[in-house]
Amino acid sequence: MNTERFPVPGKGIAEIWLASLDTLSIDAEQAVILEPAEAVRAARYRFDRDRVRYRRARILLRLLLAGYLGMDAARIRFAYGLHGKPRLERETALRFNVSHSSGEAAFAFTGGSEVGVDIERVREIAEMSAISASHFTTRERLSMSDAGERGQTAGFFRCWTRKEAYVKGVGDGLSFPLLSVSLESGRCGAWTIQSFAARPGFAAAVAVEFPELTIQLRSIHSLDQLTG
Ligand SMILES: CC(C)(COP(=O)(O)OP(=O)(O)OC[C@H]1O[C@@H](n2cnc3c(N)ncnc32)[C@H](O)[C@@H]1OP(=O)(O)O)[C@@H](O)C(=O)NCCC(=O)NCCS
Repeated sequence: MNTERFPVPGKGIAEIWLASLDTLSIDAEQAVILEPAEAVRAARYRFDRDRVRYRRARILLRLLLAGYLGMDAARIRFAYGLHGKPRLERETALRFNVSHSSGEAAFAFTGGSEVGVDIERVREIAEMSAISASHFTTRERLSMSDAGERGQTAGFFRCWTRKEAYVKGVGDGLSFPLLSVSLESGRCGAWTIQSFAARPGFAAAVAVEFPELTIQLRSIHSLDQLTG
């Protein structure tokens, strides 16, 4: 019989699990928990590395959800919003969202409030000025320039991850008009947005549809933490 290994987080708490997808060892037995649609999706990736990362992220997501819900990971069924946001098919207070970048994954869980998470490797990108001009508000651009020349890239990804966490929370993804919201203050309507230190060299943020937010960070070093 399966029991709940992790309590569902209380209101205003986002439990965020971090994992390095390239180094975790996942055996064949755990891989069978994926459903056919996930195997089909994995097969669409052109590069082996992306296929493996997708499968690992899905396996970890299923094991984490199984831990919160006290059910068999293979029996978890997902439903999808209009813009592809995954949610649980069954009725439950548990909400989740997932993000991955360059092999690092963040899995966010909340109880009763919608959640969005984003992690991005901080890197030089040629389109940085064009993206900030078209998607960041004046206030957000000022916060980037406050960071000075050397901090611009970090400032850009701080703004970007906050925006993405928010639009993923809402469920619209990048179809949301990013220029219409300024998230520097950490509040936007019913939402609270916070950056968090995920890994060195990465920017990350989480958004919850609740007036307060406490982040609890956890690291997955081995699958025994989730199954043992
Ligand atoms: C959601 C979105 C912002 C993700 O951007 P990204 O930086 O490439 O990816 P991330 O790693 O942060 O997040 C990916 C995860 O977010 C989740 N996700 C997918 N769509 C989502 C959405 N609309 N809202 C919230 N989360 C979403 C999935 O769990 C996905 O993981 P998976 O690919 O392993 O299944 C982007 O893909 C997007 O805008 N999608 C919407 C596309 C759309 O509008 N489609 C129209 C319907 S077909």
